[in-house]
Amino acid sequence: MKCAIILAGGKGTRMKSEMPKVMCEVLFEPMLHYVIRAVKEAGCEKICVVTGYKHEIVEEYLEEGIETAYQNPQLGTGHAVMMAREFVEKHKDDEILILNGDGPMMTAETINNVYAYHMENNNSITLTSAIVDDTNGIGHIKRDENGTLMCIVEHKDADEEEKKINESNAGMYWFKGADLLYALSNITNENAQNEYYLTDSLEILINQGKNAGAFVCENSEVILGANDRKQLNTLNNIMRRNINDFHMVNGVDIPCTDGVMIGMDVKIGGSTTILPNTIILGNTVIGEGCTIGPNTYIKDGIIGNNVILDNVKLTDSEVEDCVDCGPFVQVRAGSKLCKGVHIGNFVEVKNSVVGAGTKSAHLTYIGDSDVGENVNFGCGTVTVNYDGKNKSRCKIGNHAFLGCNTNLIAPVEIGDYAFTAAGSTITDDVPENALAVARARQVNKDGWVTEKKPYKDMK
Ligand code: UD1
Ligand code: CA
Repeated sequence: MKCAIILAGGKGTRMKSEMPKVMCEVLFEPMLHYVIRAVKEAGCEKICVVTGYKHEIVEEYLEEGIETAYQNPQLGTGHAVMMAREFVEKHKDDEILILNGDGPMMTAETINNVYAYHMENNNSITLTSAIVDDTNGIGHIKRDENGTLMCIVEHKDADEEEKKINESNAGMYWFKGADLLYALSNITNENAQNEYYLTDSLEILINQGKNAGAFVCENSEVILGANDRKQLNTLNNIMRRNINDFHMVNGVDIPCTDGVMIGMDVKIGGSTTILPNTIILGNTVIGEGCTIGPNTYIKDGIIGNNVILDNVKLTDSEVEDCVDCGPFVQVRAGSKLCKGVHIGNFVEVKNSVVGAGTKSAHLTYIGDSDVGENVNFGCGTVTVNYDGKNKSRCKIGNHAFLGCNTNLIAPVEIGDYAFTAAGSTITDDVPENALAVARARQVNKDGWVTEKKPYKDMK
């Protein structure tokens, strides 16, 4: 069985964040999200996350089924694994993956490539490395003149010669469980930072005559981590580029990638166009032939085919085929726009179902409502869903025609084919086929102005 320990206890002083470092975000998800995703995708059945600094934030974030170990104080990566000793003991006959929680670029593919190499060579420990340009702060992988692994020297402990070594330790290792236990019992803190370095396991196991190897990644991007905000920005840019490239290869049209940020889990159909300044996140699924953007934000949206979302903010909602939305529209959680709906400028829809073919062209609020098919919302229609205490629903039948500036005081029901006169405040149900007029009649007072002389300068 494959199991994994993810190190997530560090404070991340260099981030200058209120949050534990692993909760700092890349493409709007904590770095830890990507690490867990990769580990699961790689087939690790049991996962233990070592928490420490503000552990409750990390624990709350973790889904059920993931074990935790608590490290306090945080005395280094080796110490972090010592805190998960119980987990290691349970899995002493298994292969155990250990990886840093601040390396969101790691992929399941690389994890499994390293695993295959680890198994082929019957290694006790297999490191992951890559050749990097920026050697600042890395663990340098030291080899002898034949290229045989010797040890890992942390940058702070390295002498001038060692600092020139540009093979960097990725912070991702496969161990044989029993050998990891042995290493943990022998790691000391005699180094520049007085920390227990997990990286010392390499030398400890080599000295025991165990097999050790390093898998060198060709693509050094996968080993990147972030210790500060500038590195976080770099990771955002790289991941953003990779994801955009992935979609373009699959037939998504992104004529200009400026401001286009697409989350890792988003799915987009072919021949859809994404325009600038568009952020698409969460578990969003978008169909084919859509035009999304410019300036559109979607989180957890299910979007059909041939949909237009132009300057739209949409969260946790469903949009069926051929819907045309925008510009300047908000679709809030729990909404469903059925086939062919048209929503125009300055319209907000919240927690409502809008039936097929319905049109709301401008300046309307549709909240907590069940709207039928082919309804016409006049400009300025408001569903008055909140009386200061309770929220209530409006029901609007098929083919209803709501005159401009209709207020529907919920709970209220408009029958099929019913009309409301412009400017009506509807407090009672309207039967089907009826016209409701709920406003005072107009009175014209002839000569009122000449008589009253309401302006100062009138003679
Ligand atoms: C570590 C490696 C280094 C490697 C680099 C790759 C060690 C000693 N060094 O250095 O060789 O090149 O990663 O990015 O392992 N953590 C804890 N508890 C602690 C300390 C850290 O849980 O007491 C966690 C952190 O939250 C983080 C991870 O371990 O997720 C790595 O810690 P960090 O301090 O960033 O290590 P580096 O200095 O980057
Ligand atoms: Ca790090």
